[in-house]
Amino acid sequence: MKLEVIVLAAGKGTRMRSDKPKVLHRLAGRPLLDHVLATAEQLGADRLHVVVGHGAEQVRDALSARTVNWVTQQQQLGTGHAVLQALPQVDPAATVLVLYGDVPLLGVDTLKPLVAAATSDMALLTARVDDPAGYGRIARDATGEFCAVVEDRDCDSAQRAIGEINSGVLAAPAALLNDYLPRVGNDNSQGEYYLPEALALHVAAGHRVATHQAASELEILGVNDRLQLAAVERAYQQGLARQLLLDGVQLADPARIDIRGSLRCGRDVFIDVNAVFEGDVVLEDGVTIGPNCLVKNSRIGNGTTVYAMSHIVGSTVAAKCNVGPYARLRTGTEMAGGARIGNFVETKKAAIGPGSKVNHLSYIGDCDMGGEVNIGAGTITCNYDGVNKHRTAIGEGAFVGSNSTLVAPVAIADGGFVAAGSTITKPVEANELAVGRGRQRNIGNWQRPGASTQGEG
Ligand code: UD1
Ligand code: MG
Repeated sequence: MKLEVIVLAAGKGTRMRSDKPKVLHRLAGRPLLDHVLATAEQLGADRLHVVVGHGAEQVRDALSARTVNWVTQQQQLGTGHAVLQALPQVDPAATVLVLYGDVPLLGVDTLKPLVAAATSDMALLTARVDDPAGYGRIARDATGEFCAVVEDRDCDSAQRAIGEINSGVLAAPAALLNDYLPRVGNDNSQGEYYLPEALALHVAAGHRVATHQAASELEILGVNDRLQLAAVERAYQQGLARQLLLDGVQLADPARIDIRGSLRCGRDVFIDVNAVFEGDVVLEDGVTIGPNCLVKNSRIGNGTTVYAMSHIVGSTVAAKCNVGPYARLRTGTEMAGGARIGNFVETKKAAIGPGSKVNHLSYIGDCDMGGEVNIGAGTITCNYDGVNKHRTAIGEGAFVGSNSTLVAPVAIADGGFVAAGSTITKPVEANELAVGRGRQRNIGNWQRPGASTQGEG
């Protein structure tokens, strides 16, 4: 069977009160629409059509990495009209699944049986909800068979009380949609062409419409405003947190973690509150992440501890390292085993050798550092001359005294020693002591400026 998916994403999303098209608002760091496209892909869709209208260009640009047939709906005349725009490009022998670009949590397991039921017939995904207001209601006959979807605005008081609603998702043979949709009118309170009217025509022609109920209300939750977007985000994060706990990761509080990408964890990982993970992150066995840390596109090795308030991006941290608190590892930082980066230290494109320590208040950028190096508090690699970036090399076992500035390009050889407060502009050879500062001179019998001193204005 050939499956073609049509995703409706032309709506304006007025209630988001945003300049951005609704389907580009982010859930777990990715556009809403991207979640829906990923689901369609997982279903094994042979072709993916996305109907766009409002902000069409922006939407296409944002999702250009996906293989999609973009269909433009110039005027938003209703869900039926939207599907009709895509239909001429659908193989008439295919089964069509209609999804909404703003319903991101629908799972493959819910959709599979729906698609399977629709090879010869029409199938609709419904749900029982606590508050059906705003949704189309499912009208059934005395035997319980599906009759029609009645839109909220078109409901009489008895219909309004129905708790089973239309999720909006349906599957049907393309041939049936080709037959029915051109016949659907817009004689209703909104003057729109309603997609579910095609189901009513199928029933009128003497056929049955299969209905499947979604497992949870959450799955069919559409995002219309920012309140719903926040609810969907929390639900999604809760699901991820639950899975991490079941996989053996200890979370201080499953309600206070945010994963915007993929987080893979080894055994006995502990994650304290308010950690944010972005992109691809790997935490190996026994890693501890302290409170309020951001980790993005990084790998943290066995037994390493990241203390509170640290920021790690595009970095590799090997085993048994200490990072933070208040450390900032920028892209290209590579810490070897047992290295330490302490508080208020920023690193960038820097290799920190095994067991080396940069414990306080330093900037180490564009640097190749050997093992067992000690960098004193307040050390700065001056990597930028205003035009170009240059590298600093610091050899095995070197010692850099506090408050030193290493003006790159410069090299300190193995065992080199830099006196505190030095400005280093020339290479330091092995086992040399470099003193690059004004010599101290003491002036005797110094008279402190007294009360009579004038002119301090
Ligand atoms: C629709 C259903 C309703 C269902 C509800 C579920 C119809 C007529 N009603 O109502 O039964 O309970 O969804 O959430 O189908 N869209 C287009 N082009 C258009 C109109 C809509 O692409 O011309 C897209 C929207 O961007 C959105 C989706 O279709 O993704 C649904 O449209 P919306 O206007 O939100 O329909 P509802 O009134 O919520
Ligand atoms: Mg809607």
